[in-house]
Amino acid sequence: MTDAGVAPEGAGLDRPSAARLYDFFLGGKHNYAADRELGRKLLQAEPNAREIVKENRDFLGRAVRYLSEAGIRQFLDLGSGIPAQENVHEIAQRCDPEARVVYVDNDEGVIAHSKQLLRGSPLASVIKADLRHPEAVLAHPEFRRLIDLGQPVGLLMITVLHFIPESDDPVSIVAEYANVLPAGSYLAISHATNEAAPGTAAKVEDLMRANAANSAHTRKHAEIMRFFDGFEMVEPGLVYLPLWRHDGQVPEHPERAWFYAGVGRKLA
Ligand SMILES: C[S@@+](CC[C@H](N)C(=O)[O-])C[C@H]1O[C@@H](n2cnc3c(N)ncnc32)[C@H](O)[C@@H]1O
Repeated sequence: MTDAGVAPEGAGLDRPSAARLYDFFLGGKHNYAADRELGRKLLQAEPNAREIVKENRDFLGRAVRYLSEAGIRQFLDLGSGIPAQENVHEIAQRCDPEARVVYVDNDEGVIAHSKQLLRGSPLASVIKADLRHPEAVLAHPEFRRLIDLGQPVGLLMITVLHFIPESDDPVSIVAEYANVLPAGSYLAISHATNEAAPGTAAKVEDLMRANAANSAHTRKHAEIMRFFDGFEMVEPGLVYLPLWRHDGQVPEHPERAWFYAGVGRKLA
């Protein structure tokens, strides 16, 4: 056991991970000294980091509710992260207790914590896989058990694609998942951009490159839109996190949450 409660095998605890940094910003307990040290440096670069992460979780909730209301009953959540408040299966199963969710992450700690949470939830499962290998995810027995590719799917890539460098061809990776989904499926993405606060984004990229297990690759609006090829954007399109169908008071400066968020519906 460790101070984070679970000893994730081979997780490289001296090297901060995206999953544990995110947990740190969310005020979770599943992070270690190295994560907190880098987390504090990132907070110096972007004092608004906790609010951005909170806005991202709120977007995740609104997107899953939107998809559930649109009739989606099965979700593939790539880069699902350490369970936090209001996880995808909890939101989706509130709308329909039969909704099915497959979580995918490549971080041992995420897998351990997700398995704990999902004990006794037969309609949700977690797969340890690298999302850069769609064929492995799509052939996984838990994916095949829970996801019916004859029915529309909600594909979630929330705050994960900016960990995939251009050299890994993230557009083709997303397309490989999208290609197997029937028309009427949805793709939800949030992604850090370097348009609103270029200096801050560059500092964050430098800090992650130098210290973390995951490097960060912020992108421009047009670059993020490439992921939605073959999808029709749901209103209001690809916008700063708080601007996507906010159900409360939109902050005065939405660009301070410098992640773009959008949802698209797969065309026939
Ligand atoms: C910042 S967290 C986001 C968690 C969740 N999607 C959310 O928005 O609340 C990013 C997650 O993506 C995972 N991740 C990063 N690269 C990945 C990859 N190549 N394959 C699978 N998971 C990956 C990390 O381990 C981490 O748990």
